[in-house]
Amino acid sequence: MKFIAFSVRTDEEKYFAEWSQKNNIEVKLVKEALTSENLELIQGFDAILALQTGFYPAQLFEKAQEYGIKSFAIRNVGVDNVDLRSAFANHVIVTNVPAYSPTAIAEFSVTLLLQLLRKTEIFRQRNAVQDFRWEGNIGKEIHDLTVGVIGTGRIGKAAISIYRGFGAKVIAFDPYQDKELAASGIYVDSREEVYQQADVITLHMPASPKDKHLIDKHAIELMKDGVYLINTARGTLIDTQALLDGLDAGKIAGAGLDTYENESPLFNHDLRGQKIIDPLFNQLMERDDVLVTPHVSFYTETAVKNMVNFSLDSAKSVIETGTASSIVEAN
Ligand code: COI
Repeated sequence: MKFIAFSVRTDEEKYFAEWSQKNNIEVKLVKEALTSENLELIQGFDAILALQTGFYPAQLFEKAQEYGIKSFAIRNVGVDNVDLRSAFANHVIVTNVPAYSPTAIAEFSVTLLLQLLRKTEIFRQRNAVQDFRWEGNIGKEIHDLTVGVIGTGRIGKAAISIYRGFGAKVIAFDPYQDKELAASGIYVDSREEVYQQADVITLHMPASPKDKHLIDKHAIELMKDGVYLINTARGTLIDTQALLDGLDAGKIAGAGLDTYENESPLFNHDLRGQKIIDPLFNQLMERDDVLVTPHVSFYTETAVKNMVNFSLDSAKSVIETGTASSIVEAN
């Protein structure tokens, strides 16, 4: 059995090596992402391991079938970038890592909020530290706020527990309610109620095509004045132009974005010395009331270790038994 892993970072290498040794399975590590340009690299392997760094189209799965590859193991949770129908049609089993560390993402989302509420980016600048120019940047405390969590899967639940620890009032919406949370009376009946009641709105839901631009002009109009928006889920959930308009109008007080709707050509590329031609992104980057991070909320030691080990275990299981605990079905 031989596996090939793409988009491998240095910090993942030791986990791959350990697993490979323990299981006596060769895993070839490739730094580059898997794209239509290097598809031929998959030939001769039994399983492909990849990350959410680009789109994985039908062409990939057709090739995989041609080469007899049965397993496509994503090392992360979201599969919105995988042509699942084509994988299914080509008899390639797609697996993901559903719970590598929900707290990694939840903690990062709270970090973004804290930075916005306490204006840390502004206080870190020279004029605040050395020139006594920090007045006017007064903060807010989380226990005074109502936090609205949209999406109460593993990550949303972890975020809820942190916010409750801070003493915030937390409300939530999810069409699929968690029993335990429901018993605590956290759910409101609609997203609109979250928009109307929350001082902070934090997104923890997957992105399906129907939820593209869920947070649009209309949703923003329903929100409270001075709302904070946090998105560590998927960029397509927010209409960036509507967000910028909301910020300009003072409707939105700040946004913490670990993801951006047109992020694929930007994040995970070394763009040093290159001019970024994306007016929406450039506007986000220029603002003090927006924090943009390059889709790194997952990036902790615990999460990375679990992502590597779990995805490899899934690939092995698919090859050996034809199934795994985390198969992603096409719907
Ligand atoms: C996921 O797990 O789906 C993420 O968003 C993180 C990943 C891109 C590394």
